[in-house]
Amino acid sequence: AHRPREFILTAPPALTRIRKAVFPVAGLGTRFLPATKTVPKEMLPIVDKPLIQYAVDEAVEAGCDTLVFVTNRYKHAVADYFDKAYELEQKLEKAGKAEQLELIRNVLPPGVRAVFVTQAEALGLGHAVLCARPVVGDEPFAVLLPDDLIWTRQSVAGGQGALGQMADHAQRTGGSAVAVQDVPRAQTGSYGIVATEDFDGQAGRISQIVEKPRPEEAPSNLAVVGRYVLSPRIFDLLETTGRGSGGEIQLTDAIAQLLPLERVDAFRFHGTRFDCGTHLGLIEATVRYALDHELLSDAARSLMQNALDEMGVVET
Ligand code: G1P
Repeated sequence: AHRPREFILTAPPALTRIRKAVFPVAGLGTRFLPATKTVPKEMLPIVDKPLIQYAVDEAVEAGCDTLVFVTNRYKHAVADYFDKAYELEQKLEKAGKAEQLELIRNVLPPGVRAVFVTQAEALGLGHAVLCARPVVGDEPFAVLLPDDLIWTRQSVAGGQGALGQMADHAQRTGGSAVAVQDVPRAQTGSYGIVATEDFDGQAGRISQIVEKPRPEEAPSNLAVVGRYVLSPRIFDLLETTGRGSGGEIQLTDAIAQLLPLERVDAFRFHGTRFDCGTHLGLIEATVRYALDHELLSDAARSLMQNALDEMGVVET
């Protein structure tokens, strides 16, 4: 049909969809010692997949085809995991184990490539993101912190992952987006905290962002969760960002400098976030994914019940 000219003139410009996702995985994972003496924390499993795979699946579902892993010299296991496992594939093929073969082949789906860059010194999250600059170049991109595992229910938002929801939002606004969730005020010191304008319950433009403020200094209790859609302008800002909270180059500080230059929205995603950077978060995620697992769910439920009964915990 013929479209009236006014419509064409007022239609929003086609905005770039993110294609590249950065995964900062150079942390030492000291909280999970001794396990992390040899196993990077991103490789710790939740049921049958390592943490990093959940973040990768979320990025791929959001439309990313170039995955940039910022690692250090101790993280060979992450690169090995995404490499092709010729011998294992051959063995599984010979044994006719088609299902398992599919599982290891789909660690990276067809058309998706992994790029590894190293962060020589542990100078902080902002510095890690800056290390990805040569691969990302001049286009909007995503950052996913694999410690933050976000579980989405099939029945909510069509099961779309948190990054996909954010990418849609950023594509509509043409700006950057930072995932947020409410936290108890006593916990603001563990997060980036934002203040917003016109927050409509789901999204609003960020007017202020601070890294790990004390509860009495926090501008709100809306906390940053490890998912970002960022304008490439962040790289120029990161180049000159000095050391901030904890003596590290903070992504939060560069985002604060971006605020007066470009639109950055806080986005409250649909989904449940587990802080797998802590022992309890990892346990909580394991419990949730087990209860949600199509084959394990019933058995997991009854073994959890048995454990509670045997440990003398009375149901209320
Ligand atoms: C990082 C960010 C922080 C954010 C958090 C989310 O902190 O610096 O702003 O709230 O991730 O998990 P980290 O947990 O690495 O200290």
